[in-house]
Amino acid sequence: MTISNAPAQFSPKQAVSSNRLLGLWRLMRGFRLIYVGAVLSLGIAALAKTATYLLLRYFVDDVLGRGFGVPFLLLVALGFVGLALGEGLFSFLSGRWAARTAEGTALRLRNYLFDHIQRLSFAYHDQTRTGELLQRSTSDVEAVRRFYADQAIGLGRIIILFAVNFVAIWNLNRNLAILSVIVVPVLVVVSYFFFGRVSRRYEEYQEQDARVSTRLQENLTGVRVVKAFARQAYEIDKFEKENWDKFQKGRRLILMHSLYWPSSDILAGLQMLAGFVIGGIMAINGTITAGTYLAYAGMVIWIIWPMRNLGRIIVQMSTGLVSYDRVMAIVREEEEPLSEGSYRPRGNVRGEIVFNDVGFSYGEGEQVLKHISFRVEPGQSVALLGSTGSGKTSLVNLLPRFYEYDSGSITLDGVELKEYPRDYLRSQIGIVEQEPFLFSRTIRENISYGVDREVSDEEIYAAARAAAIHEVIMSFPEGYDTLVGERGVTLSGGQKQRVAIARTLLRNPRILILDDATSSVDTETEGLIRRALQRLMEGRTTFVIAHRIQSVMNADLILVLDKGEIVQMGRHEDLMAQEGIYRDIYHLQARIEDELQQELEATVTV
Ligand code: CTP
Ligand code: MG
Repeated sequence: MTISNAPAQFSPKQAVSSNRLLGLWRLMRGFRLIYVGAVLSLGIAALAKTATYLLLRYFVDDVLGRGFGVPFLLLVALGFVGLALGEGLFSFLSGRWAARTAEGTALRLRNYLFDHIQRLSFAYHDQTRTGELLQRSTSDVEAVRRFYADQAIGLGRIIILFAVNFVAIWNLNRNLAILSVIVVPVLVVVSYFFFGRVSRRYEEYQEQDARVSTRLQENLTGVRVVKAFARQAYEIDKFEKENWDKFQKGRRLILMHSLYWPSSDILAGLQMLAGFVIGGIMAINGTITAGTYLAYAGMVIWIIWPMRNLGRIIVQMSTGLVSYDRVMAIVREEEEPLSEGSYRPRGNVRGEIVFNDVGFSYGEGEQVLKHISFRVEPGQSVALLGSTGSGKTSLVNLLPRFYEYDSGSITLDGVELKEYPRDYLRSQIGIVEQEPFLFSRTIRENISYGVDREVSDEEIYAAARAAAIHEVIMSFPEGYDTLVGERGVTLSGGQKQRVAIARTLLRNPRILILDDATSSVDTETEGLIRRALQRLMEGRTTFVIAHRIQSVMNADLILVLDKGEIVQMGRHEDLMAQEGIYRDIYHLQARIEDELQQELEATVTV
C-alpha cells in the first residue's frame, strides 16, 4: 500500500476540531511533510518563472545591441532553457506530491469511515439514514480530497506567485508595484462576500443530494413493496420532486459561482489594462527601460491571474470545509466499545439468565419493556409469545447488548450484563434475526460467516442439515458455491431463514436466540427444524420467539408479553390451566387447524 509512511496508529478521530482548517491539517498526518514539499516546489517553480522575466529584462536592456559574442548569447539562451526546465520539473513534483497527499488522505478516510460506521451502535443506525451515510462516505470525502489536491495547493500557489512577483516588481519600480495590486483589496472583499454565500448554498445542496441518495436507496431496497402496492407513480413523483429540488439548489450554487466570475474578471481586466497603459507611458517617457516594461508586463499577469483565482479557490474551499464537517460528524460519533467490560470469563458461559424488574425504552421514547422479571436455568428454553409490537425482539436484543436497558438488572451466570464486554457476549450468543440478511456471496460463505477458524465442509453440511436446508442447497447446480442474491439464486423467505439458522448453528453459541426464525417455513419443515434444534439445543439456553403455539409448547418457560409487560408466565400446562391470552390463542389456533384438517379431508373424499 502506498500509505505505508502514514503512522499506523493515526485515527481521523484525532483530527476532530472545531477549527476546520486545523482539522484538515491534522487529517493529513503522515503526509504533511510531502505536502510541505509540494508547496516548496511550487515556490521554486514560481521563482524560476519570475527569474525568466528578470533574465528577459537583462537581455533586452543590457545584452541586445551591445556587441556580445555568440558564446555569451548562447549562455543567456541556455539560462532561459534551464529556468523553463526547472519550472517544469518543480511544477510536476508539486502536483505529484499534492496528489499523493490528497489520494492517501482520502483513501485512509474512506477506509476509516467504513470501519467506523460498522462499529457504531444499533441506536445510531436506527436514527441515521443509509443514503446519508453513503453520501458522506463518498461525495463528501471526495470534496475533502479536492480540498488538498486543488484548493489548498492552489491557494499556496497564489500566495507564492503573488509574493514572488510583487517583491520582484517592487525592486524594479515601487510605483508599478503599488499599481499592480490596487484592486486586490476589492477582490478580497468580493471573494469574502461570495465565500459565505457559496458555503451555505453548498451545504443545502449536499443535504439535498443526501436526500436524493436516500430516496433512491430506499426505493431500490423496497422496490418490491412499491410494485406490490402499485405506488410507482407516487414514488416517481416524490423522487422527481426531490431531484428537482437538488437541481434547483445546484443551480443556485452555480449561479453564485457564475456571478462571482464576471465581477472578478472585470476587476482583474481593469487592473491589467491600467498596468499596461501606465507602464507603457512610463516606458515611453523613459521613467523605466524597455526591458523593465517587458519584465513588468510578464510578471504582473502572475499577480493578477492568481488574484482572480483567489476568489474562486476561496469559494471552492468553502465546499471542502463544509464536507469536512459533514464527514467529521460521523467520525465524532462514539463507537460501541466492543471489548470494554470488567468481566471476561476464560471459557464459555453456563447460560443462567435472570431478569429483574428490567425497564427499557428506545432513546427518549416510551417504555417498550416494563417490569420484566424471570429466571432461566442453564440449558433451559424460554419461549416468548405476544402480539406484534409487544416487545419480544426488544427483549432478546438486550442480551447481546445491542441496546442497553435503562433500569433493573439482567445477570448472566450471576454477573451483571453490563460487566461483560460486548464482543464476548456476542461470541456466546447466536441470534437468528427476524429478518435475516444474506450477503451477495456464496451460500458456503454465508453459512460460515463470522466463524474465525477454518470450517470443514462436514461442519457446514451438519449445520445446514439441522436447519433442514441441506437438500435444497444440494439441488442447486452449484451446490454450496451458489451465489445468493442479485447475480445468483433468489432464495425464498423460508430458505433464507434456514440458511440464517445454519449460519448461527455453525457458530455453536452457548445461548441461542431464534427470533421468529421459522415464520416463513411451512409447518412440516418447521417440525423438522424443531426436532433437529431440540437435539442441538441440549445444554444451551435458548430463546424462541414464535407465533405458533406448537413451536413454544415444549419450552421450559413460556413468557406471554403484552405491551411490554409479562402478563403470563409458566409452562404449557400451567398456562393452559389459567384463563388468559395463552389459552385463548391455543384454542384459536387449534380450531383453525381442525377446520383446515376437516376441509382437507372433505376435499380428499369428494
Ligand atoms: N421499537 C422502537 N425502535 C426500534 C425497534 C422497536 O421504538 N428500533 C418499538 C416498536 O415501535 C414497538 C416496540 O418497540 O412499539 C416493540 O417492538 P419489538 O420488540 O420489535 O416488537 P415485537 O414483539 O418483536 O413485534 P413483532 O412480533 O412484530 O416482531
Ligand atoms: Mg420482533
